[in-house]
Amino acid sequence: MSQHTITLIPGDGIGPEVTDATVRIVETAAKQHGTTFSWERHDAGADAFAKTGEYIPKALYDSVSTTKVALKGPVTTPIGSGFKSINVTLRKQFDLYANFRPIKNLPGLKTKYPDVDLIIVRENTEGLYVGLEQEIVPGVCTSLKVTTEKGSTRIAKFAFEYAAKHGRKKVHSIHKANIMKLTDGLFLKCAQAVAKDHPEIQYAEHIVDNACMQLVTNPYQYDVMVMENLYGDILSDLCSGFVGGLGLVPGANLGEHAAIFEAVHGSAPDIAGQDKANPTALLQSAVLMLRHLDETATADSIQGAIDAVYAEGKTLTRDVGGTSGTSAFADAIVAAL
Ligand code: NAI
Repeated sequence: MSQHTITLIPGDGIGPEVTDATVRIVETAAKQHGTTFSWERHDAGADAFAKTGEYIPKALYDSVSTTKVALKGPVTTPIGSGFKSINVTLRKQFDLYANFRPIKNLPGLKTKYPDVDLIIVRENTEGLYVGLEQEIVPGVCTSLKVTTEKGSTRIAKFAFEYAAKHGRKKVHSIHKANIMKLTDGLFLKCAQAVAKDHPEIQYAEHIVDNACMQLVTNPYQYDVMVMENLYGDILSDLCSGFVGGLGLVPGANLGEHAAIFEAVHGSAPDIAGQDKANPTALLQSAVLMLRHLDETATADSIQGAIDAVYAEGKTLTRDVGGTSGTSAFADAIVAAL
């Protein structure tokens, strides 16, 4: 009988709804396989500030440092002013350099793009997300893009090693080195050096604007795509459209010493608190977490239940054409388990 302690960050907006649904499903499936989970629950962002005076309470940092694994709902980041992104801060604090986002259709869910199966590997700690912005003089602002050899090499290694281990055939670097010759140029040089160590995997490079057009025209040409932070952020949302939208796509933020599992989507304030959110993206993030913890049987049974509920197509949420709410969808998954 195995036991795991996980840091749980429900987040805000739709975060608590999708987190509750996910925890209920994980606990049900885990019990069937003789595994138990205990959750160390922590607020982050504006809710945490209201209670503790800190946007990321020290207790949350301590918890992740100890458990080394967190399941996280989305956290709202104010636009144009206010506190720094909680998500970016956590990724940097724990050096979660690889953001892994699989884009795969679910059975039975019709989209304009059937049978897509590609992986986005996003560098998670550098680029324009280092937050080094300043107003030089009124009316002139700058934002520093930071690219390092170390950061670019390790994300390229992650992409190639993942491809090699999972029988993937191709890795594409996505870049804008025609304009950002030094930063994206360095990223490409590092990826090219890593590619030389993996002759078994085809390597290609696409400029990011062309990659957007290539994706919507023919996503099937891609297998594993590796890129810096901003391009990864944008292409993740674009690619979620292939498989039914943001309600579906999971993610993992991975480092040497910790991992935080969270969906690609944000806090969706437009539907928060209305039992409308699709918990599939966070649930599939929990499946990635279970695989990371070597709880393969529990992961397989949850994925099997998700596939069955989508294949049946009777209890789906509104974002994917159904009429059910978050809790009815979660009930259907529990029943399918
Ligand atoms: P969003 O992803 O929250 O929402 C975009 C659209 O997708 C909305 O129409 C929303 O209703 C829909 N959507 C998202 N998730 C859904 C789900 N599970 N089920 C059904 N529909 C869903 O993006 P937006 O509006 O740009 O950002 C809102 C806030 O979230 C911002 O403060 C942003 O900074 C934050 N954010 C947080 C992230 C995180 O915590 N990792 C990631 C992305 C954004």
